[in-house]
Amino acid sequence: MTPRVGIGVVGAGRMGSIHARLIARSVPEVRLVGIADVNLESARRLAGELGDPAVFGSLDDLLAAPQLDAVLIAISSSEHLEAVRSAARAGKDILCEKPIALTMVDTVAAIAAAEAAHVRLQVGFMRRWDPDYARARARLVSGALGRPILFKSLQFDAEPPPVSFADPAVSGGIMVDMGIHEFDLARWLMDDEVGEVHAYGSSVAHPALATAGDVDSAVVNLRFASGATGTVEMARGTTYGEDVRTEVLATAGSIWVGHLPVSQGAWSGADALGALALDTVDPSRPRFEVAYTTQARGFAQAILEDRPVDVPGSAGTAALAIALAADRSMREGHPVAL
Ligand SMILES: NC(=O)c1ccc[n+]([C@@H]2O[C@H](COP(=O)([O-])OP(=O)(O)OC[C@H]3O[C@@H](n4cnc5c(N)ncnc54)[C@H](O)[C@@H]3O)[C@@H](O)[C@H]2O)c1
Repeated sequence: MTPRVGIGVVGAGRMGSIHARLIARSVPEVRLVGIADVNLESARRLAGELGDPAVFGSLDDLLAAPQLDAVLIAISSSEHLEAVRSAARAGKDILCEKPIALTMVDTVAAIAAAEAAHVRLQVGFMRRWDPDYARARARLVSGALGRPILFKSLQFDAEPPPVSFADPAVSGGIMVDMGIHEFDLARWLMDDEVGEVHAYGSSVAHPALATAGDVDSAVVNLRFASGATGTVEMARGTTYGEDVRTEVLATAGSIWVGHLPVSQGAWSGADALGALALDTVDPSRPRFEVAYTTQARGFAQAILEDRPVDVPGSAGTAALAIALAADRSMREGHPVAL
């Protein structure tokens, strides 16, 4: 029988539930060993759907479970550092939801804890595992589309999270919580570093978020080290559902990921005869379901093949640095260099 990685999921909230369901049903390299949540009832409910893996009221209890090789951390972002430290001390490999932590100091500390314990730490930038984004990146790095000159991305959530979640002390606020995916993509797709950001935020649509110190929509202008430019647009809610789109304009072609009304990839270049060529998608699958599944498979394969993970902690540090600069720019009202 193929060896499988024993994974425990900590956090049975919105994201932990998605991960646990996909791991249990669609990741052949993984065996779901247990689910832990301080809210034991949430953990029990989720386990009940998934063939009753063991349930724990704390990460420490989960870490003592037999046949546990690794943990997937999907608890509040403000709790990530302590969870990474505990898992590393227990010698378990770690797939940590983004952001690894809310500050650079804590992120560096988390990476250091994993390195000191010789365990893997993969950051949950799942868009890197999405087939549309993977094709876009392959087309860009092949050089066939020339030099990337403009990055443009948009991430609108369907509806705002509870104010208690949006609280920057818990989630990091819009720049760290949502923006970090876009800032990671900006680096990854452009194969470049962000040198300066200038950001604006607004809380006109959902003033309740402002009471916690967050905004409901924001734009960030980016200047890359190469001289290329970019923009990121974010919103905590729309009237029409989730909307995620990315474009890169390059000197000899372009890529698009995400088009209304259905998500699909597209590209233009010499091979597309100067027109816009479309990739096909399976519209019956929720957006990013494949990405979350492939992400967990990639993590398990790195463990099984005894090699480093593909999206290491350093990717989390680099994207967080941009997010924190954008947050500062938005709050202070001027461009911020990195
Ligand atoms: N990749 C993505 O697109 C994406 C999307 C949403 C959320 N996330 C990330 O997932 C993480 C969780 O977000 P969420 O939306 O599921 O939050 P949530 O509030 O819905 O769930 C968090 C769960 O963690 C539990 N918890 C909190 N602290 C704990 C601790 N110390 N030990 C054990 N359990 C604890 C809570 O009881 C809750 O059930 C966050 O880091 C967030 O940034 C990522």
